[in-house]
Amino acid sequence: MSHKKQIFNPNPEFAKNAAIPSMDAYWELQNRAIEDYEGFWKGFADEKIDWLTPYDKVLDESNAPFYKWFTNGKLNVSNQCIDRHLADKADKTAILFEGDRGDVEHITYAQLSRRVNKMANLLKNEFGIIKGDRVVLYMPMIPEAAYAMLACARIGAIHSIVFGGFSAEALKDRIEDAKAKIVITADGAYRKGKPYMLKQVVDTALEQGVGSVEGVLVVKRNNEEINWVDGRDHNYNELITAQPDVCPFEEMDSEDPLFLLYTSGSTGKPKGVQHSGAGYILWAQMTMEWVFDVKGEDVFWCTADIGWITGHTYIVYGPLAAGTTTLMFEGVPTYPDAGRAWKMVQDHKVTQFYTAPTAIRVLHKMGEDEPKKYDLSSLKVLGTVGEPIDPPAWMWYYEVVGNSKCAIVDTWWQTETGGHMISPLPGATPIKPGCATFALPGIMAEILDPDGTPKEVGETGLLCITKPWPSMIRTIWGDPERYKKSYFGDAVKEGKAVYFSGDGAVLDEDGYITITGRVDDVINVSGHRMGTAEIEAAVKDDPSVAEVAVVGKPHPIKGESIFVYVVLKEGHINADIKNHINQLLAEEIGNIAKADHVIEVPGLPKTRSGKIMRRILRSIAKGEAITQDISTLEDPSIVEAIISKAREA
Ligand code: WT7
Repeated sequence: MSHKKQIFNPNPEFAKNAAIPSMDAYWELQNRAIEDYEGFWKGFADEKIDWLTPYDKVLDESNAPFYKWFTNGKLNVSNQCIDRHLADKADKTAILFEGDRGDVEHITYAQLSRRVNKMANLLKNEFGIIKGDRVVLYMPMIPEAAYAMLACARIGAIHSIVFGGFSAEALKDRIEDAKAKIVITADGAYRKGKPYMLKQVVDTALEQGVGSVEGVLVVKRNNEEINWVDGRDHNYNELITAQPDVCPFEEMDSEDPLFLLYTSGSTGKPKGVQHSGAGYILWAQMTMEWVFDVKGEDVFWCTADIGWITGHTYIVYGPLAAGTTTLMFEGVPTYPDAGRAWKMVQDHKVTQFYTAPTAIRVLHKMGEDEPKKYDLSSLKVLGTVGEPIDPPAWMWYYEVVGNSKCAIVDTWWQTETGGHMISPLPGATPIKPGCATFALPGIMAEILDPDGTPKEVGETGLLCITKPWPSMIRTIWGDPERYKKSYFGDAVKEGKAVYFSGDGAVLDEDGYITITGRVDDVINVSGHRMGTAEIEAAVKDDPSVAEVAVVGKPHPIKGESIFVYVVLKEGHINADIKNHINQLLAEEIGNIAKADHVIEVPGLPKTRSGKIMRRILRSIAKGEAITQDISTLEDPSIVEAIISKAREA
């Protein structure tokens, strides 16, 4: 941990032209926000957004925590991302696509405009999609996924993207919850040189009858043979050609929902995080300019999947709103070898590279010196997101990938926050490895006790956001009570419920914020967020299972891995419990939810009131000595039995 003491100052050459060029400039902005919060946001909203009708109020707090921003303003997000750029950027590459097999396509803003307009017409004309309808996307990483998102935004439909790694069952649940009218998918795509299939997952999801779905739009990408349901399935490639290439955009209210994105919570089923148009797109654009400092002919590459919030904000909406070139990649960064990502940086002269710690660790492990074989001199800013980054991975990223000249922006944020919240600014912040540093200008982050008392330096507390911000979650689709309880139920400041992130954090003596990780029952596996309760619910569906408890176990590459304790019902024996449970998890959630460890135990450690002591189970999974007092357990001897089972496994 000796790196922790090191500080890396911004590259002075870079800082000269940076959007925020110094800590003084940072504090100037942040103090302005502290002194006049609404005025701060008004300035940027007026400058950045192409308003069709001006708003009449910056922030409406009258129905807290259901905050409203830029009330009664009218805009269209697809105008913000496309149309308004056509005057001066028609021939600039908007999306630079590289396929798994190395096929490259430059899609200019003018071409993007035509394709999005056509797709918007297709949704309207073929499916009768209108403002407010929900459209589920189950898509690979191909440009048509972005066209579909923007086409929805154009006509006011609300998209809900389901990550392609989720199972049919998980897809079905999300389609049902949103009552989607159509599903947009593809036959499949390519990964590691081979075609893979997606459409069949949609078929399975819809087999059991999902009442709301009237049609499926299928993009042909790999042209493999697929099942076709006449009347329900529609061929995008055939239908799109006849569509007119002008589709006027809807005038949307600032607060009209832009999209839903399901994410896991600490209890129950996934929640449909609802984002709005104006506040979301404003912050997506501003953070591109501040945190990634995009400008001119920059080529921005975010390696996330569009199925996650990172893909929404930093592959599609943020880069396009900022008028930059966004690189979209179908494949994986380790195929055909561990140099693929670096070759792509070289080939496309990538200027900002944004990925997850788990990917950095994989690339480091597979090819420590691989970056040195390529010309990476175009790189200016390196980003990381999704989980705390360990200092060794940080140092490799900084020294070997960035050649000790690029800033590393360790961006802390969440599906619910819409965009970055805590992050270094590449031209301003002296950075410390593994540290997210400071809240961005306009963001009021505090580390608190549940009663609102600020934590002292060095004490871990609840990471809270104490003022509403434009790109925040508006509600949970169909469940406003759960929205209140999930985010505004744990901490109160000056009598007012404040947003609690679910993360712990700590301040150091210089005021730097370090994220310590989730303090609820949410775990993070390779950057994928999962609720232990959700995994437990899937396991409990098995008729042989009496009880189950799931915890996260630290993992050197994945960050965390899934550790399952199961108690079988009397008379049930399962010789291959791990395979059995993993098959179940793959079916109910998807391959991303597979457990590294599954052990059968005679019982779970419970208090006399029946509460499972997860802390004990976490310690056992880690192989740590038990320091907790176990005398209050209903049956203290169970702990020994579990420990010996865990040792065998
Ligand atoms: C959770 C949110 C937001 C994009 C990807 C994940 C963890 C995120 C960091 C970071 C430490 C981080 C938090 C957070 N997280 N970024 N820079 N340092 N932890 O989105 O699936 O909504 O997960 O990811 O625990 O709560 P998500």
